[in-house]
Amino acid sequence: MQIPIRIRRLRGGDTAQMLALHTAAVTRACGPALSRQAVAAWLSGRTHSGFIKLVHKGERFCIAEGSGVGVLGFASWRGDELLSLYIHPDWQGLGIGKRLVAACEGQARADGWRLRRVTAIPTAESFYARLGFRRLRHSLRYKQGQAIPQVEMVRD
Ligand SMILES: CC(C)(COP(=O)(O)OP(=O)(O)OC[C@H]1O[C@@H](n2cnc3c(N)ncnc32)[C@H](O)[C@@H]1OP(=O)(O)O)[C@@H](O)C(=O)NCCC(=O)NCCS
Repeated sequence: MQIPIRIRRLRGGDTAQMLALHTAAVTRACGPALSRQAVAAWLSGRTHSGFIKLVHKGERFCIAEGSGVGVLGFASWRGDELLSLYIHPDWQGLGIGKRLVAACEGQARADGWRLRRVTAIPTAESFYARLGFRRLRHSLRYKQGQAIPQVEMVRD
């Protein structure tokens, strides 16, 4: 489905939708590859007010909003690192991820940064490779004793 989308900054009223979208995107992306316990560990402790705390720590968010349907995706960055990128599963493959990365790149550039680093869900590696990132290493992070695979990527 094609609907008008605009990219804008985060507003306080976005966070509940962002949390639901994050849960749906992680569950869809990792469900086939990770155990249910690992996905649950990943998602545990998340609250929608957590996004506001991240903003206070200097993380900058871009929101993709669809006309009449609210938040369809979001991305964030700080310094030279892209920190998050999640598109609602029903809206993936429509160019929203690419547009959100471009929006973060634009903000970063205006602040004198180039986004050179990302730590990604392994299934997103090819998406980031198309944007010029290359794999530095596979690694694991641990949450609640569960190992969560990730891929650390960089670009020049
Ligand atoms: C990975 C993700 C962010 C991509 O966003 P998206 O809106 O679906 O991607 P886009 O439609 O902007 O795709 C841009 C290009 O990448 C390609 N692409 C998208 N997802 C891809 C993937 N997983 N692997 C390879 N290529 C991919 C598209 O075909 C498109 O190619 P084109 O420029 O030649 O047309 C999104 O699918 C998502 O939220 N996944 C779950 C969470 C996640 O993995 N987040 C990123 C890691 S933290």
